[in-house]
Amino acid sequence: MFNNTQNNQQSEEHLDMNRIPEHVAIIMDGNGRWAKKRHMPRIAGHKRGMETVKTITKVASKMGVKVLTLYAFSTENWKRPHDEVSYLMGLPVKFFNDFVPELVENNVQVQVMGLIDQLPAQTQQAVHDAVKDTAHCTGMILNFALNYGSRLDITLAMKQIVDGVVDGKLDPDEIDDQTISDHLMTGFLGQLADPDLLIRTSGEERISNFLLWQIAYSELVFTDVLWPDFDKDVFDHMILEYQHRDRRFGGLDTTNRGDTQ
Ligand code: FPP
Repeated sequence: MFNNTQNNQQSEEHLDMNRIPEHVAIIMDGNGRWAKKRHMPRIAGHKRGMETVKTITKVASKMGVKVLTLYAFSTENWKRPHDEVSYLMGLPVKFFNDFVPELVENNVQVQVMGLIDQLPAQTQQAVHDAVKDTAHCTGMILNFALNYGSRLDITLAMKQIVDGVVDGKLDPDEIDDQTISDHLMTGFLGQLADPDLLIRTSGEERISNFLLWQIAYSELVFTDVLWPDFDKDVFDHMILEYQHRDRRFGGLDTTNRGDTQ
């Protein structure tokens, strides 16, 4: 776990700019607790959390991250009280209304993954417009997981693969890792589909049905900081922590320790 007391001691100048993770995924957690601590309604935390999304999008893009995947609404989040779900469904509308011009200015392309056609019509429209309005941008991909769940993702991929076999378009003997990756909702990201780094805020250390297949070799970094308080300094520390990790992908490192996990 990242230790908050180290905060502010190191900054971007200490980062190795040649080892910036290409794909960063974030489980943005702690909006409700942030609001509760201030005796505010939970939705105040989500509103502030949306501002953090804007900040971190710009920071990540400037740093050279190629894909930023944000877990904005899970398939399980429908279980929340109606008013909160309703507010969360309105957030993309507000976010894209405010922020698309800055996304374009920063050459950031918006993508979404999840069951978008189950979202309210206004939310779907906002999302589709943002994707269309930023389609020409060639910089960082800002990939929102909206109404996303990893078990759903894997289930749908399996169904597509089975359909392919039944239709005679896919030879079962040729199904491998890559076939599965290609059929997942991150398939459109090609070589960048798997996050190099997964961050979760708020002190919780679980994956919560996010990118289960894709994080097989991701570095996982957790921080106690609540998402609305997450900022450039904390993000820099997460990247620094990532750069301290020794990524071996099941092989041996240069010192040949023989540890293959
Ligand atoms: C988890 O915090 C957060 C969410 C379920 C929603 C995340 C949404 C945002 C950060 C804003 C998204 C912005 C856009 C543009 C879509 P929690 O409510 O579970 O917090 P708690 O664990 O403290 O209760």
